[in-house]
Amino acid sequence: MAKLWGGRFKKKTSAAVDDFHSSISFDWRLYRYDIEGSIAHAEMLGRTGIITPEEAGAIVSGLEEVLADIENGRAEFSVEAEDIHMNVEQMLTEKIGVTAKKLHTARSRNDQVALDVRMFLRDEIDETVGLIDDLRKILVEMAEKHLYTVMPGYTHLQRAQPVTLAHHLMAYVQMFGRDRERLLECRRRVNVMPLGAGALAGTTFPLDPRSVADSLGFEEVAQNSLDAVSDRDFAVEFTAAASLIMVHLSRFCEEIILWSSTEFSFIELDDAYSTGSSMMPQKKNPDVAELIRGKAGRVFGDLAALLTMLKGLPLSYNKDMQEDKEALFDAVDTVKKCLSVFTPMLANIRVREENMLEAARGGFTNATDLADYLVRKGLPFREAHAVVGRAVLYCLQAGKPLERLSLEEFRQFSPLVEEDVYESISVQRCVEARKVLGGPSPESVREAIRRSGVKERT
Ligand code: ARG
Repeated sequence: MAKLWGGRFKKKTSAAVDDFHSSISFDWRLYRYDIEGSIAHAEMLGRTGIITPEEAGAIVSGLEEVLADIENGRAEFSVEAEDIHMNVEQMLTEKIGVTAKKLHTARSRNDQVALDVRMFLRDEIDETVGLIDDLRKILVEMAEKHLYTVMPGYTHLQRAQPVTLAHHLMAYVQMFGRDRERLLECRRRVNVMPLGAGALAGTTFPLDPRSVADSLGFEEVAQNSLDAVSDRDFAVEFTAAASLIMVHLSRFCEEIILWSSTEFSFIELDDAYSTGSSMMPQKKNPDVAELIRGKAGRVFGDLAALLTMLKGLPLSYNKDMQEDKEALFDAVDTVKKCLSVFTPMLANIRVREENMLEAARGGFTNATDLADYLVRKGLPFREAHAVVGRAVLYCLQAGKPLERLSLEEFRQFSPLVEEDVYESISVQRCVEARKVLGGPSPESVREAIRRSGVKERT
């Protein structure tokens, strides 16, 4: 088959090169955007009189038929036609003949591919935001159920101070809220229409890019033709935002893995979201969480690939940029798949509240509260810290928690301790007293739920 760009060539492309530089094996998935973009371009060419309205009409109905063919599995893509853009043009030519050859007037594949990828990513961002909204909604629903579920909060993975499961879950509502914002900010910069840039230097035809932008739902039109065909910042930005989503999912998965271990026993995964072992009959493994943790690496790799691909490129378009697609597609697919499986896995977890409470009671998570108690009785904090440290050491030797010391025992460490100490250092009380903005008390968490805006959105 003759190449669409074959005019100045004497020899046929080697088969190895056809195979090597063709992108149809992966960019076929842009077909819908490619065709929608071409329809908008052809209509504009008709409106501005660059081609006749009849020619524009023939092109548009031909493109609609091509779209239907592809969607019904009637079309076959060809490697020789290189990429989705030329495959579509070739199919159009087969349908409507010579008029098809007018479609590419005042356009290059360089601005065309930028358009297609932007349209694709815009849709994918909307889907990803939807998945994040689903996840945040589940997190808030679970938080509302667990406002009083006391568990240990950790630093250095050592029990530190008591918090609630609700507070812990709401930490992720914050993280995924920032992820959501990042995606929407990225979307603004994706939503810029590059057609009119041509190959790199615009065109001599009197185009009307604004009307193309309007018909395709773009907010803005690219302001510089060189930048329009060279810019892949938006793909980097999306992949960076996707990387952070994966970081957040991965940290959460790590906790789910730990919490479902016998050692923690804070949660039990639903059978539908765990797997067994082919050898050890007793096993129930958190494979889904592990796989999400593992897949984070793919997305970081995609980000590194995009940054590296771009960093040395002189303006404007270079073929290196064809490498943007597989990385971007992989990041999109991975983050969406992970979110889609993570949310129902989380929603179906069984929380073992009694074990969480037990763990919060052990490990001296109320030691700071005992020190604060002494401070309220007049002792400077540093001294209170030392007093409690000695009491903890005593308890470790005696094998009991602080709240099981008798008043006499307490008074060996400080005469300031009175009967009211027991109430002050119960773990429930420790949580309820942390009413500070952003703290774990049920009222602070209720306020955090309100401020998250998740409830209004749903
Ligand atoms: N398949 C190409 C890509 O993905 C389309 C643009 C090709 N342009 C060119 N001048 N070779 O980047």
